Amino acid sequence: MRKVYIETYGCQMNVADTEVVFSILGREGYIRTEEIDQADVILANTCSIRDNAEQRILGRIGQFNIYRKARPDVIVGILGCMAERMKETLLDSGKVDVVAGPDAYRRLPELLAAASQGHPQIDVILSREETYADIAPVRVDKNGVSAFISIMRGCNNVCSYCVVPYTRGAERSRDFHTIVREACECAQQGYKEITLLGQNVDSYHFGDYDFARLLALVAESVPDLRIRFSTSNPQDISDAVIETMAAHANICRHIHLPVQSGSDRILEKMRRRYTRAWYLDRVAKIRALMPDCAITTDVIAGFCSETEEDHRDTLDIFGRVGFDAAFMFQYSERPGTLAAKKYPDDVAPDVKTRRLEEIIALQNRLSLESNRRDVGKTFRVLVEGPSKRNAAELCGRNSQNKMCIWPDTAHRAGDFVDVKVVDCTQATLFCEPV
Ligand code: SAH
Ligand code: SF4
Ligand code: F3S
Repeated sequence: MRKVYIETYGCQMNVADTEVVFSILGREGYIRTEEIDQADVILANTCSIRDNAEQRILGRIGQFNIYRKARPDVIVGILGCMAERMKETLLDSGKVDVVAGPDAYRRLPELLAAASQGHPQIDVILSREETYADIAPVRVDKNGVSAFISIMRGCNNVCSYCVVPYTRGAERSRDFHTIVREACECAQQGYKEITLLGQNVDSYHFGDYDFARLLALVAESVPDLRIRFSTSNPQDISDAVIETMAAHANICRHIHLPVQSGSDRILEKMRRRYTRAWYLDRVAKIRALMPDCAITTDVIAGFCSETEEDHRDTLDIFGRVGFDAAFMFQYSERPGTLAAKKYPDDVAPDVKTRRLEEIIALQNRLSLESNRRDVGKTFRVLVEGPSKRNAAELCGRNSQNKMCIWPDTAHRAGDFVDVKVVDCTQATLFCEPV
């Protein structure tokens, strides 16, 4: 029995892929270990989205070498987006035995076997069809409450800053029959929540099914489960999707809608195919149909040629929407992208940092305001487990994906509990049972 250890970086899609990899390796007799020093195979499922993500992972790969030196039969493999982007250069470092891109995981047993004979292996071929539709993921999430289901792979959008189309290849949607089957299996296994994953879920299409129809089908197939999805691209989120959410109580009241910038000039350079007016229209539509729906976002500070005025437009749209939460980043030039080829990365680092800090300060205030509006309200919460600081408290998320904490020793992970918000910080709702 060969033991395999996987460290996962990057987005939820990588978490879902790690679960596919455990399944593929499991069929060949590998068993999972969470102890790196016990592992015969050490894998990193990697992310290329920003330079600092890659640098951190490269440092970690250096540390893996310690285990490889201590036990020469240990195999080190790099999976995911860095494998795809950096290809042979990872092997050239001499610290890595296997490099496998996101569409090469079925070949991993073969690649690992050849590598253990002393021949480094690489497969970074991208596929137009691979969706791993037939593979039952081995869930790595510990509490057994929430599961990811990949509904598509790749991306056809080519936003100018983004490396994903190059690391993940062309967009392809997974057969909806296999998605529903996996959702039903999750229900049978006791999961209470599933998250449908894709880089741009709103462009899902398989046969007659678009994302709105898929969402309705899944929600109706597993009526006792909560349904989440990510990520929605503002250009593609349709009225039908918003209406489908509104019509199904088990679809969570949360949309992650990355805005990236509030300036039309910058949005165009980013090749995002919407304007701030369109974005605000989508927000208005969501709020009209679901006044209680949380809206969260991603933003990039300091994209090429961004002026103070563009930056103020970003702050302005944050204020107008009043996001419930946001992931906020400084622009990081990625080799090979359109922006890297066409536009100089010309916003000075200290200016990027200052603009990012201004966005974060504003969002902290907006998050606190959003949470304060919830004080006095009652929410149904899915219990994740004991809170971090107190064993007599439970924590879990409401439909809006806000973290709730309340005193409770009667329930456990996977239960639905009604709680009333009595206090908050910008990050947490403090509640009492009702
Ligand atoms: N498919 C999703 C985004 C996936 S990447 C979408 O289209 O919204 C997650 C986030 O990383 C992006 O929303 C963006 O805000 C950020 N990001 C992507 N490329 C980046 C770069 N080069 N520099 C900084 N942040 C970046
Ligand atoms: Fe990247 Fe744009 Fe595709 Fe999102 S939609 S993964 S930002 S190219
Ligand atoms: Fe990173 Fe690849 Fe996801 S670049 S964000 S792991 S698609």
